[in-house]
Amino acid sequence: LMADSLFIINNYAREYFTDTLFNKEEGQNIGLSYFEERGFTEETIKKFQLGYCLNTFDAFAKSALDKGYNLEYLQKTGLVTIRNDQPADNYRGRVIFPIHNQSGKILGFGARILGAKSDRAPKYINSPENEIYVKSRVLYGTYFARHAIDKQNECLLVEGYTDVISLHQAGVENVVASSGTSLTQDQLRLIKKYTNNLTILYDGDSAGVKAALRGLDMAIEEGLNVKLVLLPDKEDPDSYVQKIGAAAFREFIREHKQDFVLFKLQLSMQEAGSDSTKKSQLVNEIAETISKIDKAEDFTRQQDYIRQCSQLLHIDEQGLIQLVNKFIR
Ligand code: CTP
Ligand code: MN
Ligand code: MN
Ligand code: MN
Ligand code: MN
Repeated sequence: LMADSLFIINNYAREYFTDTLFNKEEGQNIGLSYFEERGFTEETIKKFQLGYCLNTFDAFAKSALDKGYNLEYLQKTGLVTIRNDQPADNYRGRVIFPIHNQSGKILGFGARILGAKSDRAPKYINSPENEIYVKSRVLYGTYFARHAIDKQNECLLVEGYTDVISLHQAGVENVVASSGTSLTQDQLRLIKKYTNNLTILYDGDSAGVKAALRGLDMAIEEGLNVKLVLLPDKEDPDSYVQKIGAAAFREFIREHKQDFVLFKLQLSMQEAGSDSTKKSQLVNEIAETISKIDKAEDFTRQQDYIRQCSQLLHIDEQGLIQLVNKFIR
């Protein structure tokens, strides 16, 4: 019942914010032109049900309370907060990204500040956790991506809301976002419902690589076949596809997709250099990663990795098999 009420309030808010974006002067002048400047078409804006929250103290709160929605529930959704003892709009002056569940109901919102982020205000404000919004279980875009993921038997993973949206607009629809947090087991299981093939598209800078590496072992343990595409430094999928265009972007993905386990090994080899202690440490680490591939599920894949890794490392294949087996027992 509580969950139903929160869904109903979120749906009301979604309608309110899209109406503001398209039909109110401030919505058009500020919100809509922001999205247009970012290269989003009207079709895209409507598909993702993007919106705008007026820069007033309580226009939304008043409207929702007038409608008879309960203040306590409004606060639970994060749409309304109490400021100076008054119900106030939490997302005022921000553009709104509704977050849908797999059947299209609104779990919550991301609200982006306009222009550059200031020191005082965060770039995005997201819904607080409540009965329906549990961040660790949500991947942004699942509702729009699920058929494409199923059909292409591959899920692309990006970091942000706008990455998902721009890729859709470019015709790449099998894409979901982790929304800036490290991947969780629940999120990986959500992906596994649709496909075993995960391709991570993160920034090419070291932060992006580190974020991707954190999720790797967990993804392997969940039985996913993980590939990686590193974007040029300072680019995210949104900025890059807007820069080079849809066709070139799709070509870039095709050409730069690499196996993540082998990438990790090559990265560690570079780091280890000729240091023999580090070298044996990385052999152990890669053996442990390989051991996490479920043999029952994918025996040949584990064998392939053992062969390829022993070649890269210039070590004996049988020795690596023994080491891998140590971690399994
Ligand atoms: N994020 C967040 N809160 C922040 C910053 C980021 O929740 N203060 C999440 C958002 O889901 C965001 C994602 O992390 O989409 C990736 O962050 P970032 O790359 O900084 O933002 P972009 O998605 O690239 O957004 P934009 O292009 O609008 O700057
Ligand atoms: Mn980055
Ligand atoms: Mn980033
Ligand atoms: Mn971006
Ligand atoms: Mn980004």
